Amino acid sequence: MAIHRRPSTVLRYLLPAIVFTLLFYVLSGPRSFSRRPLAFSPLPGRKHGAGAHPIDDLIQTAEHEFAQQIARSTTTLAESAAAYRKRRGRQPPPGFDKWFEFAKQTNAVIVEDFWDQIYHDLEPFWALPPSDIRTDAREFEMRIAIRNGKASTSSDWFWTQSWLQMIQTIEHLLPDMDLALNAMDEPRLVVPWEDMEILMQQAAKTRKVTNPKRVVSTFQKLPKPREEDSPMDTKTHNPQWEDEKHYWLLARRGCPPSSPARTAPVTTDFSQPPTIASPFSLAHTHHGYVANTSLSTTFCHQPDLQALQGILVRPISTATTAALLPLFGGSKLAVNNDILLPAAMYWRGEDRFLGAAGAAVPWRAKADRAVWRGVATGGENTADNWRAFQRHRFVAMNNGTAVARAEAAVVQRPENFVLPDRGYGLRAGGAGTGTGTGTGTGTGTEMETETETAGSLGRWVGGWADVAFTDLMCAHDGFWPGCNYTGEHFAVAQEIPLAEQFGSKVLPDLDGNSFSGRYLGFLRSTSLPVKATLWREWHDSRLVAWKHFVPMDNRFGDWYGIVEYFLGGPDGKAGRDEAAERIAMAGREWAAMVLREEDMLVYVLRLLLEYARVSDDRREVMGWVGDVGEMGI
Ligand SMILES: *[C@@H]1O[C@H](CO)[C@@H](O)[C@H](O)[C@H]1NC(C)=O
Ligand SMILES: *[C@@H]1O[C@H](CO)[C@@H](O)[C@H](O)[C@H]1NC(C)=O
Ligand SMILES: *[C@@H]1O[C@H](CO)[C@@H](O)[C@H](O)[C@H]1NC(C)=O
Repeated sequence: MAIHRRPSTVLRYLLPAIVFTLLFYVLSGPRSFSRRPLAFSPLPGRKHGAGAHPIDDLIQTAEHEFAQQIARSTTTLAESAAAYRKRRGRQPPPGFDKWFEFAKQTNAVIVEDFWDQIYHDLEPFWALPPSDIRTDAREFEMRIAIRNGKASTSSDWFWTQSWLQMIQTIEHLLPDMDLALNAMDEPRLVVPWEDMEILMQQAAKTRKVTNPKRVVSTFQKLPKPREEDSPMDTKTHNPQWEDEKHYWLLARRGCPPSSPARTAPVTTDFSQPPTIASPFSLAHTHHGYVANTSLSTTFCHQPDLQALQGILVRPISTATTAALLPLFGGSKLAVNNDILLPAAMYWRGEDRFLGAAGAAVPWRAKADRAVWRGVATGGENTADNWRAFQRHRFVAMNNGTAVARAEAAVVQRPENFVLPDRGYGLRAGGAGTGTGTGTGTGTGTEMETETETAGSLGRWVGGWADVAFTDLMCAHDGFWPGCNYTGEHFAVAQEIPLAEQFGSKVLPDLDGNSFSGRYLGFLRSTSLPVKATLWREWHDSRLVAWKHFVPMDNRFGDWYGIVEYFLGGPDGKAGRDEAAERIAMAGREWAAMVLREEDMLVYVLRLLLEYARVSDDRREVMGWVGDVGEMGI
C-alpha cells in the first residue's frame, strides 16, 4: 500500500519516523528508550505524479456534497412532508405542520437529512412495546415531565435545569411525555449488536406510509407525572447497571461479531507505548486524510483505538446497561443507544465554551499558529495508563523540544524502532506496511540518510505549535496542577481564554472525558477548527467535513500533514492560506445559519414529536396528513 507518495523532502524522510518516534520517546520515557519498540503511524502522502494534494480532492468532494445537500432543501410544508415520507418511509408525526411553522418562523434551513440522527436513535424503539417505553421513562431517576403543554422537573441538577429551560421555550407545542435524562458525562447504553439486529428487523416491519384515511392525528394524554416517592411499577425492566471500569469490554459488544473490535486481542497493559496501527484507518481515509467522518468515529474497524482513547481505557465513571431504555443525553459513541439532545452546555452557553467575544477577529490579524489549552482529561489517567490517552499524545506531538529529541534518537538508533504486532495480524495479512518503522514502505534507509536534517521537524513544530495542559489531572492528591508521573513530560501552562485563542489561525479540538464543549465556539469563530473525535452529537449530519471544518484521524497521524497543507511546511513551502480562510469562514457562516439556539429547538421539537409518537399505543396509525388533498395521495 503506497502510503508514502512524494511529500516534500524533509517531511518525506522524517515525518513518518517522527510521528511514532516522538510517541515512543515521550511515552516510554528516556531511560527505557533503547529497548522498547513501538508501532508508528505513516504520514499521509501526496498523490503520485498529479501534483495535487489529497486534501485538494477532499475539499472538492466536500463542496460538491454540500451543494447537493443544499439543493435538497425544502421551503413549503407540502415539499417538506414529501421529503419526510421519502426519507423516513412513514407518515410525518402529528404536529408536523406546527413543527414546520416553527422552523419557518425561526428561519431554519430545512433539509430532511439534518434530522437523520433522530431516526437513527429512535428506530429501535419501534420494536419495544410503547407501554414499556413510557414506564421506563416515568420511573427513571432523573426526568422532565410534560403535561398539558407545561414542562417540569423535580431535579435541580444543573444540566437538567438547562434542558428544562430549552424545552420550556417550545412546551406549548409538545404533547404529554416523560423524558429520562442521563446526568453523567458518559453515555449509558450499549445494546449488544446481536440484540440490536433483532430490534431493527422488528422495527423495519412497522415502517410503512399509513393510508391517510386510517391516520390518527392526535397524541395520547398521560396520567400525572410520578411523584418522587411513589412506588415503582413492578413491570419495570429494572436494568442491570454494569460498572466495569475497562469500558472497551462493554463498548465493543455494540460492534458486529466479525469486526476487528470483537476479534482482536484485548489490551490490558497500558503501561507500554500503544500500537498505532494505521491500516485500520484505511477504510475511512483518502491517502491518509479522513474522508468519511461518520466512519472515522466508529471504532468497530479500528481495534487499536482501544489503547488510544481514554474513554475506552478508563472513563471517570461507568454505569452501563445492555437494555434498550429511552434515555436522553448530550453525546455518545457510535455504539451507544442513548437518544441525543443538543448538549445542555450549548444552551445559553457560557463564554468559557462559546468564546463569543473575539470570535470575529479578521483572518489577516491572526497568527500562523495552532493553539490548544486544556486539562489532561479523557478519563481517569494513572501512572500505568496515561500513555493511552489522546490528549497526552497530542500535547506530546506538539512539543517542539520533545520532537527534536525524538528525531535525534531515531537517527542515532533506527534499529530500535522495530514494531510489535500485538496480535492484530496486520503483517500476516499482508497489510504490515502501516505498522513497522517504515522499513516495509522503504523509508528505513532514507531515515538513516537524514542525519543532517535531524532537529528540523522539532524546530518546525516549535515554530507554530502552542499546545499545553493547564492541569495534569493527577491520580494522586497533592500535586495539583502538576503530577508526579506525567510532570517530567508535560509542563503546566497558563490558560488562554477562548477569545484570545481566536488570535491563532488553527484550533485543534480533541475529546476530553466525552465530547469537546468548545467545538461550537470554534465553528462560530473565524479560526479553522481541526477536529478529532469519537463522539456523536445532534448536529453531525448538518456539518460537512472539509467544507465547514477539518477532520482529523483519532491517531493524529495526519496532524502534521494538515498543518503543512494549511500553514506551510518546514522547508519553507507556503501553506494554502486562502483554503484555510475559506473553510474557517464557511464554518462560521454555516454555524450562524444551522447551529443557532433556534436550530437546536427545531431539532428538539422534531425529536420530541417523534418520541411521543413511538411511545404511544396507536403509533402505527398516527401521523400528519394535512397535505393529502393537496398532494393527491
Ligand atoms: C461512510 O461510511 C459509511 C459506513 O461504511 C457508509 O455507509 C457511507 O456511505 C460512507 N459515506 C461516504 C460519503 O462515503
Ligand atoms: C506519586 O505520589 C504518590 C502519592 O504520594 C505515590 O504513591 C506514587 O508512588 C508517586 N509516583 C511516582 C512515580 O513518584
Ligand atoms: C516539552 O517536553 C519537554 C521534554 O519532555 C518537557 O520538559 C516540557 O515540559 C514539555 N513542554 C510542555 C509544554 O508540555
